[in-house]
Amino acid sequence: MREIPLKEQSIVLIGFMGVGKTTIGQAVAKKLYRDFIDIDEEIERRFGMPPKEIFAKYGEAVFRHHEKEIISEICHKKLKVISLGGGAFLQKEVQDVCLATTTIFFLDLSWNSWKDRISLLIDSRPVLQGKNMEEIKELFDDRQPIYEQHHSRIITDNQEIEEIADYIVDSLKLAWELYAG
Ligand code: S3P
Repeated sequence: MREIPLKEQSIVLIGFMGVGKTTIGQAVAKKLYRDFIDIDEEIERRFGMPPKEIFAKYGEAVFRHHEKEIISEICHKKLKVISLGGGAFLQKEVQDVCLATTTIFFLDLSWNSWKDRISLLIDSRPVLQGKNMEEIKELFDDRQPIYEQHHSRIITDNQEIEEIADYIVDSLKLAWELYAG
């Protein structure tokens, strides 16, 4: 497989559910004149049902299998901005394909900021359902190490969407300039 030049690599956003990967990804795509792809929406489009229903009807393993297949396919496309579901990076194959073909930004939001968003997320996120606050905190903590596989981390606490998107675009432009070729 030929390596994709840095400037043409797709940009991938990772991080825990509800940190703003989709909204920030759309803003970054707009600023870079690129197409935006949300993997959960792509899975929903192909399955004809949202992740919550796929989990309920076929189970998490089926969701993860399709998530992996779709990410492996889409990461090889150039010049996209892609947001991944918060659990996608649990799969080593997903980490490997993203690290090899894309530029990965980890959107890092602290537990204290994240926990205020929970009421907005609980209905649509199957992995949160049936869990108490302590168990959700455990899931949050357990997931953090998987996001350490990234090219750049952004602390998003108290930051506006536009600020974060500008930071991503500026750091990309700097990297493209420094490592052009
Ligand atoms: C999941 C996160 C969701 C979605 C699915 C599973 C997870 O995506 O892929 O509900 O395991 O963390 P978001 O991170 O966009 O909420």
